[in-house]
Amino acid sequence: MHSFKELSEKFNKAFEAEHFPTAPASLYEPGNYFLSIGGKRIRPVMCLLGNELFSDIHPDAYQLANAVELFHNFTLVHDDMMDEASLRRGKTTVHVKYDESTALLVGDVMLIRAYEYIQHIQPQYLPKILQLFNRTAKEVCEGQQLDMDFSKMENVSMDNYIHMITLKTSVLLAASLEMGAILGGASVNNCQHLYEFGKKIGIAFQVQDDYLDAFGDAAIFGKEPGGDIKQNKKTFLLIHALEVANATQKKELNDLLSSNAADKVEKVLAIFKSCGVDAWAEASKAKYMQEAFEHLEAIAVVSDRKKPLIELANYLMNRNQ
Ligand code: IPE
Ligand code: IPE
Ligand code: MG
Ligand code: MG
Ligand code: MG
Repeated sequence: MHSFKELSEKFNKAFEAEHFPTAPASLYEPGNYFLSIGGKRIRPVMCLLGNELFSDIHPDAYQLANAVELFHNFTLVHDDMMDEASLRRGKTTVHVKYDESTALLVGDVMLIRAYEYIQHIQPQYLPKILQLFNRTAKEVCEGQQLDMDFSKMENVSMDNYIHMITLKTSVLLAASLEMGAILGGASVNNCQHLYEFGKKIGIAFQVQDDYLDAFGDAAIFGKEPGGDIKQNKKTFLLIHALEVANATQKKELNDLLSSNAADKVEKVLAIFKSCGVDAWAEASKAKYMQEAFEHLEAIAVVSDRKKPLIELANYLMNRNQ
């Protein structure tokens, strides 16, 4: 058995292999650029963690892990275009460094590479994994569309927000664990609890992502500070602030949403702060972590084997990157 850190190191090493041919360089060099700027690589490691919870690492777990990381990178390249983001992992985003057509195709080809890795999985596991992978991929698209739709809407409830982030972010974390578990021969019941564990930590993960987008240290977080505010994203910060703000703050917030003033981010951040978004984030992360751990408890394997998943959860909740 391996710790979360050991599995991260193992995956990062394995992922250094070439994923693309050389020509045309105008397509694959940008693809390699994006993969080489790294990221935390948590989803592929979650495939390995889900697998090792139930068995020794299955050789196909690396095919799966590669597929999941490529799929994730595909979503990021397209997401950065949708969000008009210029910075990712501290580097220039693909559509800005190259152009939009290139970014579209780089994303597309990453998605196709993901399916090529999946194709190598043994036939006895393939249908189940493919079904879950496909369902998840569609859900991510649905979540991304809701994210875009919400940014143009005035009233988005906290429940709608949780639904949207579940789709755009947390189902992929959940599925990464479950697909690994399928390769480990886990029972249906264990798979379900592991999926729910992943889903709950995924929600807390996106809450933290939204928080860091507003209040993180940009040099560490690697994204443009206040990007969500500039795009009028319906993050929990905005939804919570609109829920608790007084009439003056509410008006100011609504006015800011329709402005492009140079000090928009600064002003919105000040309102967020005074509306207690810090406390909301902490309480909400704690709630989802608690629910996640209840599902982890319910998985029928000896508790020692669950330690790496606890390490993962703690790492994700305390991240500033
Ligand atoms: C970013 O995911 C997209 C979200 C779902 C918030 P990560 O924070 O895992 O991105 P990288 O791969 O580590 O850069
Ligand atoms: C993105 O959510 C989720 C996906 C890419 C599917 P965000 O738009 O918040 O992710 P970041 O902050 O750009 O990484
Ligand atoms: Mg984004
Ligand atoms: Mg986005
Ligand atoms: Mg974000």
